[in-house]
Amino acid sequence: MSNHTEEINRRRTFAIISHPDAGKTTLTEKFLLYGGAINLAGSVKGKATARHAVSDWMEIEKERGISVTSSVLQFEYDGYCINILDTPGHQDFSEDTYRTLMAADSAVMVIDASKGVEAQTRKLFKVCVMRKIPIFTFINKMDRDANDTFDLLDDIEKELGIATCPVNWPIGSGKSFKGVYDREKKCVISYSDTEKGTKEGTATEIPVQDEAHLKEMIGDEAADKLIQEIELLDGASAEFDLDLVRKGELTPVCFGSALTNFGVEIFLKHFLKMATAPLPRKADIGLIDPVENEFSAFVFKIQANMNKAHRDRIAFMRICSGKFDAQMEVRHVQGGKVMRLSQPQQIMADERKILSEAYAGDIIGVFDPGIFSIGDTLCMPKDKFCYEGIPTFAPEHFARVRQVDTMKRKQFVKGIEQIAQEGAIQIFQELNSGMEEIIVGVVGVLQFDVLKYRLENEYNVEIRLENLPYEHIRWIENKDEVDLDKLTGTSDMKKVKDMKGNPLLLFVNSWSIGMTLDRNKGLVLTEFGRN
Ligand code: G4P
Repeated sequence: MSNHTEEINRRRTFAIISHPDAGKTTLTEKFLLYGGAINLAGSVKGKATARHAVSDWMEIEKERGISVTSSVLQFEYDGYCINILDTPGHQDFSEDTYRTLMAADSAVMVIDASKGVEAQTRKLFKVCVMRKIPIFTFINKMDRDANDTFDLLDDIEKELGIATCPVNWPIGSGKSFKGVYDREKKCVISYSDTEKGTKEGTATEIPVQDEAHLKEMIGDEAADKLIQEIELLDGASAEFDLDLVRKGELTPVCFGSALTNFGVEIFLKHFLKMATAPLPRKADIGLIDPVENEFSAFVFKIQANMNKAHRDRIAFMRICSGKFDAQMEVRHVQGGKVMRLSQPQQIMADERKILSEAYAGDIIGVFDPGIFSIGDTLCMPKDKFCYEGIPTFAPEHFARVRQVDTMKRKQFVKGIEQIAQEGAIQIFQELNSGMEEIIVGVVGVLQFDVLKYRLENEYNVEIRLENLPYEHIRWIENKDEVDLDKLTGTSDMKKVKDMKGNPLLLFVNSWSIGMTLDRNKGLVLTEFGRN
């Protein structure tokens, strides 16, 4: 086995998703504790440990105390090299959050045991389902009063439409949290509240058959309840099936408490055993194998102006195959150019570390003079293929943009087009008009503020935003078969086009979507567009 095969096979790249406050940051910090972070790209965004990327428009982040951007962390554990893609932990998240999932091979879902599945988890989860990537669930905060365990699992199954398979089973919660039952080992692991910041404490393990000892450890009542629940569980829950896990149809569930560091390492171990190394990815010439093929990557995120003095952009790419070497020439397929990537780096909180090499599974950031777009492919100069485009996710908030000073038309168009190219916003036009009437769509309303701020600060253009009532957008999948003029929807439906001229429909509510489909037989609408 060549050195690079080994390096690729030990890579595990995952995104961590959760509703704000479920404990994502705490869990990530505990993971790092076990591995010892070798690279801190971006930052772990604890309120106490907040280390924000320095940039001018990110003042918005600072003002509001939230994070708009996502970051990447790399650490080593047990021979694995793990990349964690963090996603912004705020309700007002942007499309970037979704796109980050496109760069991951699996996802860790953190759920607050007293809340169950929450809105944001649901949205992100949809993307995981679309991509059929494995999802590993950590039900957190068992040291606080939790919902009934069966209800929590039911909630995941119903809300997210995925079967669950508990790896362990909690015994009580909150003040009466006694530990977990390990279903594989058939033993009870006692809860030990370790100090913040230390590794997992030494827990006692007792086989569940050893009833006398068990009762001594967790009390008669808890022991009886546990035995009953195990019986029920063994009869009712899905059989563990690694194949289904890898297809994203079954999620292994672990219970624990990130804060007190209970169940974290067990979760990490299980997760690493089940998650796959980088998998082949679809390109227009077929599947590209991470090991067999030489270097290739795709751009999944572009971040502008991390440094005001330079006005630069950083393009984040996920390496999909082979080894990347800073000295080598690569082909930027969409740009039609062979080049050396400029300053390949891992993006740190306040500094950037220049990289000399990286492997399939890794994320690198490169200086972008404005040539890259989301979804672009890079490969060896001799190769020429394109990875499947990254879906454009349906924005949920819309506004009409008006320029205050119409003399600055050129700057306005340039600014708004560049910001759209970075993927922070999507822009649409009325069907029969040009750039004079622009409708902006965003996934999280914060992006409206970001747009306004950036146009003013970077392009010297003042705008006014007029909110529109639409909440849903649909691409017309079979646009070649549909006569747009004849298409009749509800009176509040609006026909628009994207920058590539693709027709789209805006709706005020989901009822109108149903109505429009009813009235236009054969019409196929979709929630995801393609770049
Ligand atoms: P997030 O990244 O998903 O938004 O969540 P984060 O880790 O920041 O955790 C949110 C809050 O929940 C934090 O408290 C954190 O300490 C707490 N927390 C995380 N895991 C657990 C757990 O297993 N048990 C308990 N009881 N609490 C947990 P905070 O008071 O908002 O912040 P801090 O002052 O502690 O940093």
